[in-house]
Amino acid sequence: MPNTPPSLLVTRAMPRDVISRLTRSYEARLNDDDTLWSREELLERAAGCAAILCTSTEKMDADTIAALPDEVKIIATYSVGFEHIDLTAAKDKGIVVTNTPDVLTNATADVAMLLILAAARRAYEGERLVREDKWTGWKPNFLVGTEVTGKRLGIFGMGRIGEAVARRARGFDMTIHYSKRQRLPASQEQGAIYHETLEALLPHCDFLSIHCPATPETHHVLDRDHLALMPDGAIVVNTARGTIVDDAALIDALKSGKIAAAGLDVFENEPKINPAYRDLPNTFLLPHVGSATVETRNAMGFKCLDNLDAFFRGDSPPDRLV
Ligand code: DGY
Repeated sequence: MPNTPPSLLVTRAMPRDVISRLTRSYEARLNDDDTLWSREELLERAAGCAAILCTSTEKMDADTIAALPDEVKIIATYSVGFEHIDLTAAKDKGIVVTNTPDVLTNATADVAMLLILAAARRAYEGERLVREDKWTGWKPNFLVGTEVTGKRLGIFGMGRIGEAVARRARGFDMTIHYSKRQRLPASQEQGAIYHETLEALLPHCDFLSIHCPATPETHHVLDRDHLALMPDGAIVVNTARGTIVDDAALIDALKSGKIAAAGLDVFENEPKINPAYRDLPNTFLLPHVGSATVETRNAMGFKCLDNLDAFFRGDSPPDRLV
């Protein structure tokens, strides 16, 4: 590390252990109030900073990156997703960008399983009845959901998180189908059935769990035409990014029963979600908490710091994107 601690702008309030480590090595500018800064505020605060530790709530588009002070040499995002950062603009300006792969795989896969189970077993409807004291007692036809055991789970985007969901789902005797640009080696497939395209995958999905990155190609890819390819009464789960789903199409499918239920942790335009989701009893909705465990949120912060430390030592950061 250089003799004088590098100055680091931290855009959001961070877990205590992360703050205590980063303040030991950096001249940190913190956001204790955790207010969401405008683009102008962010640029103003970045003046004189060598590094920025941001999150997916900060839009680092081409204009913002171009306007960053020249002193900024590295952006470490506290997220595995990096669709909020224009990597080409960063590269053009000579700014290194890193993310936090691996450390949130298990926490996010746990939430995907939670959504699969909650959507299948009508958890929202049941929880509401009990909480509102409207439960009138056990009966055979009451809150009957869909069995998970033995069903087919389609995984769209079989990366680290998709594979972790597949491992969990095998414990429920689910048959795994997946699509991904490149087929996994057989040893890694563990019996999962490969489909070259999303179109080929969807007819085999009693459940669909989305794990692809948000890119221009995957924007609204789960649209009306794609939903129509799924078996009637299928269940859709999303822990990746809201922009992958065409909300209007999914909401219509949930209303008609074409899709029996959806479990969603991510939404387009978070936190201002499409309000129609709230009115549907067959949705189970979470506020983007896939990685929200103490262990994972600390690990994400430590990973950002490992990357920053490597950069300021003159090494290549382990999770360098550009
Ligand atoms: C991630 O790491 O990408 C999470 O979704 C938080 O942004």
